[in-house]
Amino acid sequence: MNFKNKMLRDDALKGKTIVVTGGGSGLGKAMTKYFLELGAQVAITSRNLEKLQTTAEALESETGGTCFPVQCDVRDYEQVVAMRDAVLDRFGSIDVLLNNAAGNFISPTERLSANAFDVVIDIVLKGSKNCTLAFGKHWIDKKEENKTILNIVTTYAWTGSAYVVPSATAKAGVLAMTRSLAVEWAKYGIRSNAIAPGPFPTRGAWDRLLPGDLAEKFDLSKKVPLRRVGDHQELANLAAYLVSDFSAYVNGEVITIDGGEWLEGAGQFNLLQDIPEELWDQLEAMVIAKRNKS
Ligand code: HXC
Ligand code: NAP
Repeated sequence: MNFKNKMLRDDALKGKTIVVTGGGSGLGKAMTKYFLELGAQVAITSRNLEKLQTTAEALESETGGTCFPVQCDVRDYEQVVAMRDAVLDRFGSIDVLLNNAAGNFISPTERLSANAFDVVIDIVLKGSKNCTLAFGKHWIDKKEENKTILNIVTTYAWTGSAYVVPSATAKAGVLAMTRSLAVEWAKYGIRSNAIAPGPFPTRGAWDRLLPGDLAEKFDLSKKVPLRRVGDHQELANLAAYLVSDFSAYVNGEVITIDGGEWLEGAGQFNLLQDIPEELWDQLEAMVIAKRNKS
């Protein structure tokens, strides 16, 4: 199977302007690349302008598309409004907001300072809120329709997860915002959806969540029923579909793309997968024998 196959036709996003927060690295960069290949013009934003410029130049030369780097710390509402206005000056209008920027690290919660908890909440929840509010107000004010907000959450947005409690708390808030606005802003022609990725190796996530030799000790692919991690193109395919007009009737949805990972931990008897095939004959015989006696 080739996970790197590209899903949509070449001009599927032609004419669309997309803003990707955290677009200079990792999954944001991978999604940006595919959007450019599909004909969209893309603005990428984060705190590090140099990184954004390097990424934009590389992606422009690889795809022949137009990628506009804009510095913006999503925690600061004024910077978000300035970023939005810079993109409007450059491209005239914006069709899609992709809230992808995030901060995260592993830690026992009792070790966190109040500020350490805040820093993650501020990037993930407050940052997504700042962008959503600034872009939504603009679209509603200008009476522009056929707009899309796509939020990147995680599967622990609904299960919760130990050792990443600020991130789980913030992503749960982003998921609630996604579903709430899907209803409230539909009348303005604004759709809200989310993607919940499982493990997709990126430097940003792996350096912080699996530092040192943890990546070898805790091979995340073993937790996935499909026994592999995700390929960036697989996520980009899903994101491109969700920001395209092909998904015009999808609103308020969170799509999980994790190879079945979170469900493997959830099903009470999933651990029976460890039982070898030959033991099943014996177990079945034991259960039937007991049933026949009673
Ligand atoms: C405990 C920590 C810490 C750590 C920082 N802090 N790292 N505490 N363990 N590992 C504390 C600091 O001591 C400080 O507290 C406070 O947090 C703020 O730290 P700063 O370094 O000043 O913050 P800042 O420079 O704003 O950086 C933010 C950051 C950083 C979140 C800490 O990691 C970052 O920039 N991240 C961006 C990219 C990222 O995280 N990508 C991964 C996304 S993966 P005091 O009290 O001293 O002030 C993801 C989901 C993955 O989201 C799911 C995988 C399956
Ligand atoms: P990443 O490369 O570290 O991406 C995070 C991005 O957010 C960086 O480009 C960072 O750029 C930006 N950012 C951080 N703080 C910011 C701020 N205050 N303002 C603006 N931008 C900021 O990690 P990733 O793995 O690609 O993560 C991308 C998204 O996928 C995140 O939402 C993450 O939660 C989600 N996710 C990832 C995985 C995975 O397995 N990788 C799984 C589930 C969910 P700067 O540092 O330049 O600001």
